[in-house]
Amino acid sequence: MENLETLKIQTLEQINQAQDIKALEAIRVAALGKKGSLTEQMKGLAGLDVEAKKQLGQQLNLVKGEIEQALNSKKQALTAKELEEKLKTEKIDVTLPIREENIGRIHPVSKIYEEVVAIFGEMGFEVADGPDIEDQFHNFNALNTPANHPARQMQDTFYIPNPESDNFDDSYVVRTQTSAVQIRTMEKKQPPIRIIAPGRTYRSDYDATHTPMFHQVEGLVVDKVTTFANLKGCLYDFVKAFFELDDIPVRYRPSYFPFTEPSAEMDIGCKKSKTELKIGAGNDWLEILGCGMVHPNVLKACGIDPEEYQGFAFGMGLDRLAMLKYGIPDLRTFFEADVRWLKHYGFMPLDESSMTGGLSNNGGLAR
Ligand code: DAH
Repeated sequence: MENLETLKIQTLEQINQAQDIKALEAIRVAALGKKGSLTEQMKGLAGLDVEAKKQLGQQLNLVKGEIEQALNSKKQALTAKELEEKLKTEKIDVTLPIREENIGRIHPVSKIYEEVVAIFGEMGFEVADGPDIEDQFHNFNALNTPANHPARQMQDTFYIPNPESDNFDDSYVVRTQTSAVQIRTMEKKQPPIRIIAPGRTYRSDYDATHTPMFHQVEGLVVDKVTTFANLKGCLYDFVKAFFELDDIPVRYRPSYFPFTEPSAEMDIGCKKSKTELKIGAGNDWLEILGCGMVHPNVLKACGIDPEEYQGFAFGMGLDRLAMLKYGIPDLRTFFEADVRWLKHYGFMPLDESSMTGGLSNNGGLAR
C-alpha cells in the first residue's frame, strides 16, 4: 500500500519535472510499460485471493488512471511549449529593412525602358515587338530603302547568310533599327495605330558612344488625320516628362530618313561645359531623336492607302537617353557586366517607374 502511494507520488513528481516529450515518454515506460513498476504490481495480483485482488486491483487502477491523466496533460503542455519555441526560432520579422548590399540592381537601360513605356503608355501607345533577326524586306525594303539605295550605307549592317539562297539580297540581318517593327505592325493591324517598339538593334560600330548591340525605341502613329503638329506636341510632352522638367526648349532641324518625308531631327536645349551637361536651359543644343511623317511608299508596302491615312514616326536610342539622363560617360561600360558598375549606376528593384509614382524616383540612383 505504502509502496503504491510512494510510487504514485514519485511518478507524478517526475511527470511534473519532465522537460520534454522524450523524458515524459521514459517516465511512462518506467511506470506503465510492459516491465513498468505499476505493470509489475498488476501482474502480482494473480497470486492474491479474491478479496485482496479486488481491493488492490481497484487501488492500482486508480493510481494508473491518475498517472495516465497526468501524463496526458503534461504531454499537451509540452507539445504546446515546443511548438511555441519552434515558431519563435522560425519567425521572420517582415518589418526589418532589406540588406541593400545583398540585392541586385536594375540596369539603367531597363530603367529607361520602363520610363519610356510609362510615358508613352500614359499617352495611349501600345508596346509592339518584332524579331532581332530580320529579313531585308522588313529592315530595309519596306522602309523605302531598296537594295542599292544609298541610304543603306547609313547603317553598318551585320548580314547573316540565308542557307536557302546564294543571292545576297535574300540574306538576313540582325535588325539595324527598330523601324522594322513599324512594318511588322502595319502588316498585322489596320489604322488607327499608335505603338512604340523598344528593343535591341545591331550595327558594326564601337567607340565611347557606339556598341555593336544597342537599344532603340521606335514610335508610330497612323490615322486619318495625323499631322506634323501632332508629332511635335507628342515629342515635346515626351521630353518634358522624360527629363522631369516643366519646360524644355526644343527645335526641329530638317533631315533625311528614307522612310519619312519630311524628316527632322529633334534637339533639346542645354548648357554644355567641359565638365557638365545641363539639360533644359542654356544656349546649346543636343540632338536626341529622328522623326518625320511616314513616307507614302512605306504605307503602300504594308497595304495601307496613303490617300486615306497619314502617319508620323520617330526613333531614338535608349542607351543614349540613359547616358544623358543619368550622366554615364561611356556606352561600352553598359555591356561589360561589371557588378561594381551596376551597383553604382543601377536602380533599386522595387522603385518602379510610373507617371503617378515618379519616373526615376527623384533621380534616386541606388548608390
Ligand atoms: N531608324 C532611324 C535610325 O536608326 C531612327 C528613326 C528616324 C526612326 C526617324 C524613325 C524616324 O521612325 O522617323 O537612325
